[in-house]
Amino acid sequence: MPSLPHSDELIFFVNGRKVIERNADPEVNLLFYVRKRLRLTGTKYSCGGGGCGACTVMVSRYNSMTKTIHHYPATACLVPICSLYGAAVTTVEGVGSIKTRIHPVQERLAKCHGTQCGFCSPGMVMSIYTLLRNHPEPTPEQITKALGGNLCRCTGYRPIVESGKTFCVESTVCELKGSGKCCMDQEDGSLVSRWGKMCTKLYDEDEFQPLDPSQEPIFPPELIRMAKDPNKRRLTFQGERTTWITPATLNDLLELKANFPKAPLVMGNTELGPSIKFKNESHPVFIFPLGLPELHFVNTTGDEGQQQIPLNGPFLERSPEADLKSEEIVSSVYIPYSTQWHFVFGLRMAQRQENAFAIVNAGMSVKFEDGTNTIKKLQMFYGSVGPTTVSASQTCKQLIGRQWDDQMLSDACRWVLDEIYIPPAAEGGMVEYRRTLIISLLFKFYLKVRRGLNQMDPQKFPDIPEKFMSALEDFPIETPQGIQMFQCVDPHQPPQDPVGHPVMHQSAIKHTTGEAVYIDDMPCIDQELFLAPITSTRAHAKIISIDISEALALPGVVDVITAEDVPGDNNYQREIFYAQNEVICVGQIVGTVAADTYAHAREAAKKVKIAYEDIEPRIITIEQALEHNSFLFDEKKIEQGNVEQAFKYVDQIIEGEVHVEGQEHFYMETSSILALPKEEDKEMVLHLGTQYPTRVQEYVAAALNVPRNRIACRMKRTGGAFGGKVAKPAVLGAVSAVAANKTGRPIRFILERGDDMLITAGRHPLLGKYKIGFMNNGVIKAADVKYYVNGGCTPDESEMVVEFIVLKSENAHYIPNFRCRGRACKTNLPSNTAFRGFGFPQGTVVVEAYITAVASQCNLPPEEVKEINMYKRISKTAFKQTFNPEPLRRCWKECLEKSSFYTRKLAAEEFNKKNYWKKRGLAIVPMKFCIGIPTAYYNQAAALVHIYLDGSVLVTHGGCELGQGLYTKMIQVASHELNIPQSYIHLSETSTVTVPNGVFTSGSMGTDINGKAVQNACQTLMARLHPIIRKNPKGKWEDWIAKAFEESISLSATGYFKGYQTNMDWEKGEGNAYPYYVYGAACSEVEVDCLTGAHKLLRTDIFMDAAFSINPTLDIGQVEGAFIQGMGFYTIEELKYSSEGVLYSRSPDDYKIPTVTEIPEEFYVTLVRSQNPIAIYSSKGLGEAGMFLGSSVLFAIYDAVAAARRERGLTKTFVLSSPATPETIRMTCVDQFTDMIPRDDPSTFTPWSIRVS
Ligand SMILES: Cc1cc2nc3c(=O)[nH]c(=O)nc-3n(C[C@H](O)[C@H](O)[C@H](O)COP(=O)(O)OP(=O)(O)OC[C@H]3O[C@@H](n4cnc5c(N)ncnc54)[C@H](O)[C@@H]3O)c2cc1C
Ligand code: FES
Ligand code: FES
Repeated sequence: MPSLPHSDELIFFVNGRKVIERNADPEVNLLFYVRKRLRLTGTKYSCGGGGCGACTVMVSRYNSMTKTIHHYPATACLVPICSLYGAAVTTVEGVGSIKTRIHPVQERLAKCHGTQCGFCSPGMVMSIYTLLRNHPEPTPEQITKALGGNLCRCTGYRPIVESGKTFCVESTVCELKGSGKCCMDQEDGSLVSRWGKMCTKLYDEDEFQPLDPSQEPIFPPELIRMAKDPNKRRLTFQGERTTWITPATLNDLLELKANFPKAPLVMGNTELGPSIKFKNESHPVFIFPLGLPELHFVNTTGDEGQQQIPLNGPFLERSPEADLKSEEIVSSVYIPYSTQWHFVFGLRMAQRQENAFAIVNAGMSVKFEDGTNTIKKLQMFYGSVGPTTVSASQTCKQLIGRQWDDQMLSDACRWVLDEIYIPPAAEGGMVEYRRTLIISLLFKFYLKVRRGLNQMDPQKFPDIPEKFMSALEDFPIETPQGIQMFQCVDPHQPPQDPVGHPVMHQSAIKHTTGEAVYIDDMPCIDQELFLAPITSTRAHAKIISIDISEALALPGVVDVITAEDVPGDNNYQREIFYAQNEVICVGQIVGTVAADTYAHAREAAKKVKIAYEDIEPRIITIEQALEHNSFLFDEKKIEQGNVEQAFKYVDQIIEGEVHVEGQEHFYMETSSILALPKEEDKEMVLHLGTQYPTRVQEYVAAALNVPRNRIACRMKRTGGAFGGKVAKPAVLGAVSAVAANKTGRPIRFILERGDDMLITAGRHPLLGKYKIGFMNNGVIKAADVKYYVNGGCTPDESEMVVEFIVLKSENAHYIPNFRCRGRACKTNLPSNTAFRGFGFPQGTVVVEAYITAVASQCNLPPEEVKEINMYKRISKTAFKQTFNPEPLRRCWKECLEKSSFYTRKLAAEEFNKKNYWKKRGLAIVPMKFCIGIPTAYYNQAAALVHIYLDGSVLVTHGGCELGQGLYTKMIQVASHELNIPQSYIHLSETSTVTVPNGVFTSGSMGTDINGKAVQNACQTLMARLHPIIRKNPKGKWEDWIAKAFEESISLSATGYFKGYQTNMDWEKGEGNAYPYYVYGAACSEVEVDCLTGAHKLLRTDIFMDAAFSINPTLDIGQVEGAFIQGMGFYTIEELKYSSEGVLYSRSPDDYKIPTVTEIPEEFYVTLVRSQNPIAIYSSKGLGEAGMFLGSSVLFAIYDAVAAARRERGLTKTFVLSSPATPETIRMTCVDQFTDMIPRDDPSTFTPWSIRVS
C-alpha cells in the first residue's frame, strides 16, 4: 500500500463558528464530536444507527456549480466528521436557546405540547427547521414527510405534526376552524349544548411569534470562498486506525481507487456507517468523492475510460463478471423512459409504511409486441428473498410470447415459486409470508399492467374488474388531523389558579432548545471511566472460565469487573448483578470493562473470552416452561359463581388460545447511570434515569454492603420509561456502583441501544387459554381462563404483573361464573419487567378476543355481545370490590354515537362489497382499568416544600419526571394550594436525600399520591401562615413570608400521604384491590390490503373518563401517547428470538415502533367528566389506561380480515393473535396465493425465529 501523508486540517462551521480540527479521526462521527468535543449536548444519542432521528442536525453546503446553498437534515450519528470539510452544521443550539432567543419552531413545538420526555424534541425541531429553511411555507404533507424518520415514543406524534402545521400557509390544525374560531368553542353551537361545557383549545396560536426567514443565520462566506477555490487539492485525514481521503478531481478519485481498490466510497454513509458500527466491518482507507461535480451532473459525452454496465439480472445478482471492477466507480445511472407498450413498476412491502426495510420488494417490467398483449420482453427482480437481488429470469423467458391473461398469471405464479426458493429456515424468517408476497406482488403487477393496457386500447383489452381496482394503489401518506375535547375551567375560578388548565410541560421549552439535561449530557467528571458490558451469549450454561488478559492489555482499559468484585450481595432479592458460575439467559451481564473512553471499553469487552458448557434444559418459550413445570411463583387465582355447574347449562362452549407477544419499551434515552464514589465514609451518588430511586439505593447498598444512608440517588428527568425504568436501573445501578467502588473512579454507564434492548427486556409475552360457556343470544354464563406469562430468568416484577392480569381479567364484562388463574413461567430469556399497563394490555386482549369469538359463534356483531355482557349498574368485581360502572356506560355510548359507529359500519360493509382485495373493518372496545396497587404501603408518598425569604418556593417529592408532566402538575398543585403564581415555584429533581423511601412512579399513581403529599405540605405551610395573612390580608406573599421569618415560623414543611387503603387477600380471592377505576372506550377503523397485509388506520375516537383533569393537555398527551404505543404493540412491534434464546431485534431497523405515518388519519380524543372524590381535585390517573385502547385497531383489523375470509367462503371462527403484523394479516387472509405457496413440514427444520408466548 502506498504511504500516506500527514493529516490536513479539517475546516467546517458549527452554529456559525469555525471549527479547525487538526487531528480529525475518520472514525469519529459528528454526534460524538458535537456532544463530547464541542459540548453541544442538545443533539441526542438514541440508536447510533440512523434509525431514530434523535440526532438530526442540518448540514448546509454551497454548490459552486449551481451557486446555491443546500440545506439538508442529517442524522449526526452517521456523519463522519471528515465528510464535513467545507460544510456548515446547525445543531439545535444554533437554532435558538433560552439564553438568547427561542426560534418559532422550538416555541411552537413546546406550546403545542409536542414534547413529553423531550428526548426526541431536538431532532424534531431540526427536521422541521430544515424543512422551513428550504420551504418557508410548507404543505402539511411536507411536514409529515419531514418527520418520517424521527421517532417519538411518548406523544403519539399528533401534537408534533400539529406544531409543524402551524407553519403551513393555510393552517389545517383543525379543519373546523375555518372561521378562525373553532366551531367546538362556539357558545351557541349545537355541539356545545350536546357536549356540555367542553373546550378544544389546548394552546393559543395568537401567542406564537411569526416565522421570519430573513432572521436566519447566513451561510459562512468563508465556506463559499472555499467552495469556489479553483485550486482544490486532495485532502487526507489520518486517524488512529484509518485514513480518509477526499479526492480533488475525478482523475484523482480514479487514481485513488486504483491505489486502494478495496477502499469504499463514502457518500451518505447510511449503508457503510451501520455496517462498520454493528457488523464490525473495518476499512483502513475511505474515499470521499461527494464534492466531485462529475458525480452530481450527468456527462453525456461519454469520456474515455467510461463504460456502461446494463442494470440487468447478473449485475443486480452481483455476479462477479457483471459487477464493477474494484478500481471502477459509478459516475451516473441512466434510466430510460419507458416507451409505448412498455410497463415498469416497483412494488414493496415493509413492516411499517415509512423508514423500514422491505420485507419483499420487486421491480418488474414488461414490453409487449406493439398493439398487442403478447409479451416481448419480461423482467422480474425481487429483493429480500435471498442474499442479493434475485431475478426470475427463467420464468420470464418461459413467458415470452404469452398473452397477458389469467392463464399466464397462473403459470407465472407457479413458475416463479419454483424458481425463487426461500428455504424454510432462511435468515429473516417470515418464510411463508415472503413466498406469498412474491406472487402477491406479481399479481399486483399483473393488474397494473392490465389496467395500463386497457388505458392504451379499451376496445381490445378489457379493464380489470371494478372490485379489483383498489388493489392497485398503496395506502397514501396523509397528514393526520383531529380534535381533542376536555372540560372547560369553571369561569369563576381565579385566573391565577392553574388547576384544570392545559398548562405546558414545565420543561417543554428546554426540551425543544436542547437545554434540558439528561444523564449523558452531564459534563465529564475528572478521572471518569466509561463502562461497557460483557454479556452472555448462551441462554443456560456453566461458566468454565473468563479470560480477561487480552482486554486488559488494550489501550485505555483500566479494569474488568466481574462477580468476584462485588463486596456485598451479588444475588439480591433473586436478582443477579454479575453472573457467577452460570449464565441463565443471553444478554446477562457477566462482566464490565472500565476504560478511559467508551470506544476503548467496548473494544475490550469484545476481547473478553468466556468458555461455557451448556446446561439442559434450555427453556425459551411458555410451552417449554409448561413442559418442564418451570415457574417463578405460585399460581394466582380468583373465582366467583360455580363455573363447572354453569358449563352444564349453556347453549355453547368454545375453547381457544390467544398468543400475545412481548414489547420493547424503546424509551428514547437508553438506560443511563453516572456513579460517583465519594472520598469519605463509603458514600456514593448515582445520577440516573429511574422510576424508583429508592430501589436503586436499596440494591446499590446491598451490592456494596453499606447502609442505605451512604447512597444518594438523584433523578431529574429521563427520556421516557414506560415501566422499563422501575426495576432494571436498580440492577444496572448496582453493576455500575460495583465498578465505581472497585476502580475508585466515577463511572459513566450509558447503554447502547442494542445492549439496552438485549439486557433490560420488556413486556411479558402471554399465553391465554380460555373455555367460555354462553347462550345463543350472546350472554356469557361461564368463563375459565388461564394465563401464562413468560417471566424470563429472574423474578423482577413478574409476580405483580400476574396479579394485575388476574385482577383485571374481566375488563368491563360481568361473567357470573368466572375463574381466572395466572402464573409466571421461568425461562432462559432476559427477565421481563414492568411495562405501561402492567399486564393489562396483554391479558385483556384475551377477554376481547373470546368475546369476539363468542359473537362469531352466535352470528352477532361483537359490539352487541360486548354490550350485552358489560357491567350495567353498581356491581362487585370477581374479587368482590364494589364499583359504579356509570362512566363506562357513558364512554361506551358516547363513543358509539360520536364516532357514528353504526353508519360507518354500514359504509365499511358497502366498501367491502365493492372491493375484493382491500377490506375495511371497525371495532369498538370498552375498558375498565384499575389504577394503583393492591398493597396499601405502595400507595404512600411524601413531599418537602421550602419557602425561601424572597417568596420563591422549592417543591420536592418522591415521584419521578418521566415525561408525563408530573412536575408540571405538582407545580399546579402547589400554586393552587399556596395561592401564588406558578412562576414562584420551582421543582428541581427527585432525590433519596430530600425525600426518602419514595415508592415507584408507576401504576398511573404519580399525580395521585405525590399530589396529595405536596398538597399536605402546602396546607401545613398555609396553616402556619394563616395568622399572618389574617392580620395583613391585603399584603403580598413576599410580605407574609418576611413576617413569618421574623416571627420564627418555619417555612419548610414535609407533606405526607398515607396512601389509598387497598388490600387483596389471595387466599380468599377477595379484596379492595384498587382505589378506583378509569373507564373508557375506543373505536377504530382500518383498511387492510389483503394482498400484502398492510393496513391503514383511518380513524380513531377515544372517550376516556378523566373525572376532573388537573391538566387536560398532559392527560390527553398520556391518552394519545399510550394509545399509539398500544397500537404499535398490537400491530407492528415484533421481537424476534432464535430458538436458542438470542434476541435478534436490537435496533430500530429490526424493531418497528409507530412513526408519524401510522397514527390515525383522523384522531378524536375526549376527556369525559365524572366524579372521583377520593383523588386529588377529583382527578384520575391516566398514564396507562390508553394503552389497551390500542387494541381497537387489532380488532378492527380482525373485522376487516373476517370480511375477507367470509368472501372467500371461510366462515369459521378464527383467532388473530397479537401482534397483527403484516405477516399475520396476509397469512390470515387466505386466498389462491396463500394456497399456492410451498409449505414445509415443521419437524424437518428449525425456523430462524420462534414465538416465545
Ligand atoms: C435508517 C435507515 C433506513 C434505511 N432504509 C433503507 C431502505 O428502506 N431501503 C434501502 O434500500 N436501503 C435503506 N437503507 C440503506 C441505505 O440508506 C441505502 O442503501 C442508501 O442508498 C445508501 O446510500 P449512501 O450514499 O448512504 O451509501 P454509502 O453508505 O455512503 O455507500 C454505500 C456503498 O456504495 C458504494 N458506492 C458509493 N458511491 C459509489 C460510486 N459512485 N461508485 C461505486 N460504488 C459506490 C460504497 O463503496 C459503499 O460500499 C437505510 C439506511 C438507514 C440508516
Ligand atoms: S438516528 Fe442517530 S441516534 Fe438514532
Ligand atoms: S417526547 Fe418524544 S420520545 Fe419522549
